[in-house]
Formats: sequence, C-alpha cells, structure tokens
Amino acid sequence: MVAVELKQSENGVSTAPGATRFVHVQTFGCQMNVNDTDRIMQVLAPHGWAPTDDPAQAQLILLNTCSVRDKAEQKMLSQLGRLRPLKEHNDELVLGVAGCVAQQEGAALLDKVPYLDLVMGPDHIGELPTLLERMQRGERRIAETEFYKRKDFRFVEAEPRDETRVSEFVTIMKGCDRVCSYCIVPFTRGREVSKPREMVVREVERLVAAGAREVTLLGQNVNSYGKDLQEGAGPLASRVPTFSELLTAVDAVPGLERLRFTTSHPMDAIDDLIDLFGRLRTLCEFFHLPVQAGNDRILDEMRRFYTVADYRDKVHKLRARCPEIALSTDIIVGFPGETDAEFEDTLRLLEEVRYDSIFAFKYSERPGTRAEKLGDNVPEAVKKARLSRVLAVQDAITRDKMQAMHGQVVEILVEGPSQRAARGTAGQGGGGFQMMGRTRTNLIVNVPVPFGDFWNKRWVGKLARVEIVEVKANTLFGRFV
Ligand code: SAH
Ligand code: SF4
Ligand code: F3S
Repeated sequence: MVAVELKQSENGVSTAPGATRFVHVQTFGCQMNVNDTDRIMQVLAPHGWAPTDDPAQAQLILLNTCSVRDKAEQKMLSQLGRLRPLKEHNDELVLGVAGCVAQQEGAALLDKVPYLDLVMGPDHIGELPTLLERMQRGERRIAETEFYKRKDFRFVEAEPRDETRVSEFVTIMKGCDRVCSYCIVPFTRGREVSKPREMVVREVERLVAAGAREVTLLGQNVNSYGKDLQEGAGPLASRVPTFSELLTAVDAVPGLERLRFTTSHPMDAIDDLIDLFGRLRTLCEFFHLPVQAGNDRILDEMRRFYTVADYRDKVHKLRARCPEIALSTDIIVGFPGETDAEFEDTLRLLEEVRYDSIFAFKYSERPGTRAEKLGDNVPEAVKKARLSRVLAVQDAITRDKMQAMHGQVVEILVEGPSQRAARGTAGQGGGGFQMMGRTRTNLIVNVPVPFGDFWNKRWVGKLARVEIVEVKANTLFGRFV
C-alpha cells in the first residue's frame, strides 16, 4: 500500500443543501481506506446523507479503521471512548466501526464495546444503506463481516466527488493472496479480486473529466492484478488483462498526465512492468518496492519468497531500464528472532540501494498471523534503537539526494496551495503565497506565486517547469522557468 503511515483524515465538506441527516467518518490507515471512505459517502448520498466534520452534529458516526499494527488499533479504541458521551446525549446516533478492525473482530467487537451499534467489513460498503434501514426498522446492533465468495463480490463503481482533486486514487483490486507471516491484511481484506478493466478505465475517464490530472492505481499487490480473473477463464484466459495491460489501457485515457501505482510485491510479474518505464507517456518514474528486511533468513521467516539477491536484481533491472527512477520501500525492524547482525544487513541494503524515501516500522505482533507463533521476542528498547538507526541512515541519504536537486529544472504538477502557505509560514520568496506541486519522481516542490495567481488558483492542475533554487530542511523551493 501507499505510505501506510498511520493517519487520520476527515471528510471535507460539512453541508449539502436539502439533506436531513449527517454522517461523520474518521479514516485511519492506508489509501485503500481513504478510498473506501469516499465510497461510503457515495453510497449514502442518494439516501439523503450529507457529510459533516462535526461528530456532535451527526446521526451516523463511522470509524474506518486499520489494524496493520497494534498502535493503529489502540488509536481506534481510544477514539471510540472519546465519542461515547455523544451516544449518551443522542438516542438516535448510530456509532459504527468499518474497515480492517471491524473485519478482524466481527461480532466480538459488539461484545467488547457495549455502546457500539454497527460493525461492517470492507466487503459490505455497498450495503450500508440497507444496514441502516434494518436498524431503523428496529434491529439494534448489527455485525456484517462475512467475506463474499470471489465470484459474488461486487465493487462499488467510483463516481467523482464534487471536490475532485488534481491527484486521485483508483482502487483496482481488493484483498491479498500473499502470506507474509507478519501481516494481517490477508485476514482483513480477504482473497484478491480484480476490478474489471473497463470499470477501472471508466473511473479514470470520469475523474479526468472532473479535473484530475494524475491517478494512482491502488491495491495491496497490484502486480498480481488479473490473476483471479484468469482462474477458470478457460479459452478466454489469454484475453484476461495483466497489470501491464491495465497500465497501458489507462495511459491511453485522453487528458491524463500522470499515472502511478502502489503497492507491488517484488516477486509478482515485475519484469514486463519494468519494461513500461520510459515507454508509457504518463507512467511516472517512481517505484515503491517494499523489501522489509535485508537478510535472507529473516526474509524467509517473513515468507516473502525472495532473497536479497533476487531483490537486488529487480532494482538493477529497474535502474537499467530507467536510470532516473526514484525508489521507496518499507522496512520492518525487530521481526521475531532478528539478531543484531541480521539487522545490520538491512542497514547495508539501505546504503547499497540508496532509496529516495522509506517507511520503517517496528514489528508489531498481529493476532492469528503465522509470525505470532514465533513470539514477539525482540525487546521494545531494541526495536526502538533499530528504528532510529534505520531512520538516521536514510535521513543522510535523503539529505544528499535533496541537495543534489539544487539548480535542476524539473516538471511539476501543481496540486494547490502549499501547506506552508496554508499555515502562513514564510518560505523562500518571503510571503506565504506558495503553490505546491510534485515532480514525476514524487518530490514535493513549493513555488512562490504572485498574490493574484494564488487566489485565482491559476496554476492548479497545470504542468510547469521549475528550477530548484533552495533546499531547506528536506523541502524543495523552486521558481517557474
Ligand atoms: N501490501 C502492501 C502493504 C501492506 S502494509 C505491501 O505488501 O507492500 C504496509 C507495510 O506495513 C508493509 O509493507 C510492512 O512494512 C508494514 N507492516 C505490515 N504488517 C506489519 C506488522 N505486523 N508489524 C510492523 N509492520 C508491518
Ligand atoms: Fe501483507 Fe504481504 Fe499482502 Fe503486503 S503482500 S498486504 S505485506 S500479506
Ligand atoms: Fe490498509 Fe490498515 Fe487495512 S493498512 S488494508 S487499513 S489493516
């Protein structure tokens, strides 16, 4: 997945004309969940529900949750506790948990949290209006977390929202058929199901028509897109689209400027994908390729099904095909039994590959996973120290790479006012009037603009060439050329 940084985002706008009921959703976890929240809003809208940022105004509050690490789950539980008083003041309020914790805990969550009304797994988003109707007819507490059989699963086809952004996400599959020993995702998202290619292309076309210029295709393991369609496809099998074919089809959507995808498993159908870099006009020079660890024994215990040498080979191929490609990765430190020497191998790999950015996590034991049986035996203090070392090594590399950007001319896609501008901080150029854009390699660049251009958003959605004129504390500042 994308930057599976634990984050919480809220659902933008607060009112819609003529709406009688308000829904407040808080989103935790990965982009998949952020996207699911959009689908939740979409299916509720025709039933008269409008989003609100204020939980006290809502008749329905949903926490769309993540359980990839223990901390994420704890965060959700404490958030429920904070919302509890609202239930005491409002008999009508429906309080629900959706997403991965809902899927994992099922009806047991209703027992654990006595003031909770609804537990809904990610497969059931499309049925949310029906579940609410059942509650209105008198059913008090509902848990709906059965997985659908592959052949019965239906995606909710995405429609663009009113506030479509320059850069949008499109889910292309759900679930994960891999069996990484530490990971809960296969339990919370079920088997892989690929969204039909025509539906993906249609969604991208609509987003582009609504103003999007960049699209990121989302899945837990996008490289295995289409494999489930292949099963039982018989004589039609050769016509079932692979991920590379899907990218090629999306690349052809008129008006689309940039195409990204996340996440990939290093061993799934990567070679034909590598060949597309530099060939597809919109495909950006950026690859998130999670390695997790730099030691073969640990990789084997993690059930990643590759060695460090296999991984290195993919990186070499990628860089040979596309020398300017930016790479990022995920790292887990303190996996059960990881020795100091084994951990050092991870540091060595970071030094060798020199990623542009990384996400690093302390191992977190997850219930029901294979790794749970190994015992969470690396002490917390050791995990913490290892995480700091990983981050320190990467910080130095990132700093070097950022400094090397000084004086370069790059193309950015302008997304909107820079966060610095929004906070009113003065950056390069003195005032707070800066736009933010990204390079194809996914670096953020802030560019000062004249007052008038800032307010009329003249640059939003435009591709522009900028020269990097300052690099300060891992932030790039540019000027239009
Ligand atoms: N499907 C994606 C990502 C899934 S979760 C992929 O395979 O890349 C995102 C990241 O969270 C993983 O890459 C891994 O680094 C981390 N992660 C998953 N389970 C974890 C656990 N139990 N403890 C710590 N980190 C974990
Ligand atoms: Fe989890 Fe592995 Fe699947 Fe990624 S590929 S979601 S880490 S099981
Ligand atoms: Fe995403 Fe967290 Fe679920 S990372 S798939 S929301 S467990």
